[in-house]
Amino acid sequence: MMEFTVLTIFPEMVAAFWEHGIIRRAIERKKIFASALNIRDFATDRHQVTDDRPYGGGSGMIMKPEPLAGAIAAAEKTMPAARKILLTPRGRVFNQSVAWELAACEGLILVCGRYEGIDERICHGLIEDEISIGDYILSGGELAAMVIIEAVTRLIPGALGADDAVENDSFSNGLLEYAHYTRPPVFEDQHVPEVLLSGHHRKIENWRLESSLMRTLLKRPELLHGRELNNREREILKKWSDEIQRILEPYQRSKKRGDCE
Ligand code: ADE
Repeated sequence: MMEFTVLTIFPEMVAAFWEHGIIRRAIERKKIFASALNIRDFATDRHQVTDDRPYGGGSGMIMKPEPLAGAIAAAEKTMPAARKILLTPRGRVFNQSVAWELAACEGLILVCGRYEGIDERICHGLIEDEISIGDYILSGGELAAMVIIEAVTRLIPGALGADDAVENDSFSNGLLEYAHYTRPPVFEDQHVPEVLLSGHHRKIENWRLESSLMRTLLKRPELLHGRELNNREREILKKWSDEIQRILEPYQRSKKRGDCE
């Protein structure tokens, strides 16, 4: 069973997340275990302070090292093999392949910073990995931790029901997902593609692959650059390329002859 522990000063924020949807079902199916530790509970002073002013001056507050170290040690006690990850905008950027990598871990301890950041000494030795969910600044790591938990849980065998299979998800094969339709067959004058109503499985599969490739080419072409194409995919791209070539041909011929555009 994959175990997630979120270290945060807002445990209620993530606790609500366990109660819904696929995370809740994965917990009920005993495929994952998720919990949160309140960093404030590990504060060492009477007022349970978790932040302090930065040495050297400047604006903003910094998370003190002692409560964080205490919370990490407590989480490690129950999950000694878990990977200790700090959520931070300076981390490596999360994507589906990082999700697969994390899904292979025995557990994840997700450390959520708040304020301007955490004391640097926590990052040395205690933290094993730093992850960002994108190039923008959030007020804390909690949303990032939830994003990671959801993306990773989807990859754990048996965590999703049979109806939510991951094989066709966008990125699962390096392409964006194909276009989906459900009833009615005509909506506001827009028809569902005929082939999808045909019941012809091979043709449907081909249509879906073309749809995936077309979407990826138009919306995220860089995904096709970093990926090997199989024979069928190459054939489809070649077919489009030939078609485009045919459309352009008259212009190319006239250019050669030096005609005006
Ligand atoms: N904390 C603040 N911003 C973040 C981001 N983009 N990713 C992960 N953690 C963060």
